[in-house]
Order: sequence, then structure tokens, then C-alpha cells
Amino acid sequence: MSRNDVHSTIRERPNRVVLRRHADVVAAAHDPETFSAAVSQHLQIPNGLDGAPHAAARRFIDPFFTDHELDGYMPGFERIAEDLVASLASSDSFDAVADLGARFAVRAQSHWLGWTARLEDTLLEWVADNRAATRSGDKTRTTEVAARFDGIIRALLAERRAEPHDDLTTRLTVLTKSDGTLLTDPELVSILRNWTGGDLSSIALCAGVVVAGLMAAPQLAARVRAASDAEVDAIVDELLRRDDPFVSNRRRATRDTSVGGCPIAAGQVVVLDWREANTDPEVFGSEFDAAAHADDNLVYGTGPHVCPGRPLAARELRVLVRAVLAAGDLEPAGDPVREEPPVAGYRTVPVRIR
Ligand code: HEM
Repeated sequence: MSRNDVHSTIRERPNRVVLRRHADVVAAAHDPETFSAAVSQHLQIPNGLDGAPHAAARRFIDPFFTDHELDGYMPGFERIAEDLVASLASSDSFDAVADLGARFAVRAQSHWLGWTARLEDTLLEWVADNRAATRSGDKTRTTEVAARFDGIIRALLAERRAEPHDDLTTRLTVLTKSDGTLLTDPELVSILRNWTGGDLSSIALCAGVVVAGLMAAPQLAARVRAASDAEVDAIVDELLRRDDPFVSNRRRATRDTSVGGCPIAAGQVVVLDWREANTDPEVFGSEFDAAAHADDNLVYGTGPHVCPGRPLAARELRVLVRAVLAAGDLEPAGDPVREEPPVAGYRTVPVRIR
């Protein structure tokens, strides 16, 4: 994933301390004074900020994710999901990650931000290249992929400045900060990069995990068909907890400290491994239990950097799951292929709808 993306999927590397216990990950996420989010030298809004500047950025960002803001997009999300599923249901088989998840994520996100459908193939190509670059661990490739995405966003901002639309991207270009100034281009690019990277790559991987989970448990699929919105969201969250495609985020120690007896030196990078923490046997039983595990579920993080995009992601996943299950029963159409570290989830999940 891109070097500046909050939705990083980087796993263990030498000279890093990786926190895997649920209690350790939660404690570190809630202690930004010891575990700073300022890990990269690049501008990262809000994920690379600490303290007051971080809180100010969240006051600016969080209002875009309220029920009031998001409810209006739901009919569009539903139409996009139904049309996509209708086109896939008639085919002999499709891939729940690329054909369903990634394509839905691109269309839903474009609907939300007011981006043109012309960009669909460019964005899909970017999602695939981004995942391949992350998988390769090759810095030159990840830097190139990140720069390409910045270019796409900059071009869109320039278009909206030249010709304002009634959409969210235009709203961002005219929004003022608390000091009365407009957001600068690097600030806007950083914000949009985190929104879009999160949406596109994470939703595609989440779709793979959720579809594979429902295919393996037809009784659960039947429960989802009859469930309320809140119940669908809880079941999706629990499926994602058990096989979290969103691996980790990083912090930097601001002082010498230790976790669980492991010394950590000031300046050292500390990895919060959400995926491991989310299956810590000290906290979670092995059974599927959405209600019992909800409070400890770390799929969307915890602490000051907890995911602001959760209400949007949950809505998109809910709409997608409902559309797929409304079309018929899910059947495997081949063997699924797992992603390789540092990416998690599935590379492909072949499905047929009967
Ligand atoms: C699809 C599923 C998603 C998952 C599993 C997910 C997960 C996470 C997690 C674990 C964090 C915490 C990072 C940390 O503590 O360092 C986070 C932060 C963040 N997420 Fe998401 N996210 C998702 C979707 C989204 C969407 C759709 C958006 C926006 C459109 C978004 C925007 C952000 C931003 C801006 C942050 C940084 C918050 C901060 O630093 O204060 N995410 N996300």
C-alpha cells in the first residue's frame, strides 16, 4: 500500500517491535504520548499527527462521516451494488475480491466523492498495482504507485477548482480551517489519499473475507438475509475480526519504555498488529459470537486514531452483502487463494450465485 496511507498493511520488519497481544495493542493505541503517530516524514492528515493538531484535524474530518452526511448516499450505493451483482450473477463465476469488492468500492467511492465514472478503470488498475507493490516490499514500486495516486487526486482538484460541482470533492476545495484559510493542495491530497486508499483497498479485501465467510456458513448467510442493519453490521464485523485483512499500523516510541518485558528504545518503530490482537485467545473464544466480541473488536482500531471512515465502510459492506445474498445462494466456483504477507485476506475468492 502507498507509503503515506493510513491503511497500511505492512507486517513485521527487522528492528521493529511488533505488539500482538490484545492488551498491549490497546494500551499503546491509547497512549499517544509514548507511542507517537508521527512515523513518516511525509504529511499525513490526520494519521501522522499527534495531540492538538490531530484533534483539530479530526474535528474537521469526522463531520463528513455522520449519519446525516452518509444517509443520502445510501440509495446510490444500493443501486450500484444491485446493478453490479446482477451483472455478475448471470456469469458462470466471478471473483469476490476483484470483480465484486474492488469494482463496488470504486463505484461507491466515486458516487460519494462525486468522481467521474471515467476514472473507474484507472482506479481499479491502481488498486491492483498498489496491492502488488505492497506485496513486493519494493520501495521504488510503492513510491511510484503512491505518486501516481497523488497525480489522480491533484488532477481532480484542479478540475473542480476550474469548474465547481455539487459534490464532496468541490466542498473540500472551498472549506476553511479554524484559522480561516483554505486547505492547501498537499493537505487536501493527504486527506483524500487516506479516505480513498482506505475505501478502495480495504473494502475490496473485506468483501473477499466476508463472502468467503458467508459461503462457508450457509446458516450465517440465512441469518444475515433476515437481519436488521445493526445485526448485519455486527456479523460483518465479527467475520472481519476473525480474519482481519487490515494487518497493522505503526507508531514511534517517544521515550525508552517496555511492553510485556520487551524493552523499546526511544525512536524505535512499534507495530500495532490488529490482525493478531483480534484473535488473541486471552480475549476471544474460538466460536463465532458477534455480540460477545463486539466491544473488543479492533478491526477499525481504537484510541484517538480510531477509524473515522467506519460508518461509511460499514454501510458499503452492508449494502454489498445484502445485494449478493438477495441474488441467490453463494457457491464456491474454485479454490480461494490467500494473499501473502504483508497483505492479508484473499487474493481471489471464486464464487457462483445459484
Ligand atoms: C474498509 C474497512 C476499513 C478498515 C478495516 C479500516 C481500519 C482502520 C484502522 C484500524 C484505523 C486506525 C489506524 C491507527 O490507529 O493508526 C483506521 C484509521 C483511519 N481510517 Fe479507516 N478503515 C476502513 C475504511 C475506511 C474508510 C472508508 C475511510 C474513509 C473514507 C477511512 C479513513 C481512515 C482515516 C482517515 C484514518 C486515520 C484516523 C486518524 O489517524 O485519526 N477508513 N482505519
